Amino acid sequence: MFSYRKVLFYFSLMFKLIYISLYLSCGKNSPSIVSIVPDSLYVQRGDSIAVATFDTLSKTLEYVIKNSGPDSAVRYCNVHAYPITAQYATKHIHVRRTSLKFRNPANEPDVMEYLILNEFKTQQQAGLELKPVIRKDNKGIVHYFKPILIQGMCITCHGDPASDIPGSVINQLSVLYPKDQATGYHIGDLRGIWHIQFIP
Ligand code: HEC
Repeated sequence: MFSYRKVLFYFSLMFKLIYISLYLSCGKNSPSIVSIVPDSLYVQRGDSIAVATFDTLSKTLEYVIKNSGPDSAVRYCNVHAYPITAQYATKHIHVRRTSLKFRNPANEPDVMEYLILNEFKTQQQAGLELKPVIRKDNKGIVHYFKPILIQGMCITCHGDPASDIPGSVINQLSVLYPKDQATGYHIGDLRGIWHIQFIP
């Protein structure tokens, strides 16, 4: 005779087996199925923070370039790029930009960022469309990475020093960033990434 407890045990075992077999069969055909919902949520949250930060940065930059010239804009970036980038941050959200060829040494990539930057670089070289990437680390922090591409207005300060960047900007850059690597870019090039961390 089955006792009540045994029935319960076999029932729960049966459900577990059904769940595991469903998980395995779904997993085999489409490995990302389990993480679609949380990933897309983080992509949405990351996108809106990256877009808002980029908007504020580029609008302020355009304004300063127009009113005080590009070399003042370099000084402006030197002082304000960090606080502007950080303004959407909270205790649970960190925002930063990094690059393989960084201008400010504080933006040097860490190991995870370096790997992602190289992933994006390889994808771009292969002609693939670059999309945001989500990674979760062993501390439960969710990392959002989004490629930053070079646009027309970026060339004044990140283009070819011989033909795109005005002399006054080159002088300003050499004073503020003696080890600057962030030049020589063309429109459409991968300039770097947004890295947003969602900390539990
Ligand atoms: C007026 C000059 C100027 C323009 C225009 C400009 N930048 Fe920059 N950029 C800078 C300076 C200066 C820094 C370093 C800021 C700092 O000290 O944090 C910088 C830093 C960055 C960084 C952070 C990584 C690093 O190298 O330190 C990224 C990414 C970046 N710029 C992308 C862009 C993009 C994309 C555009 C165009 C939409 C752009 N920049 C336009 C001057 C400029």
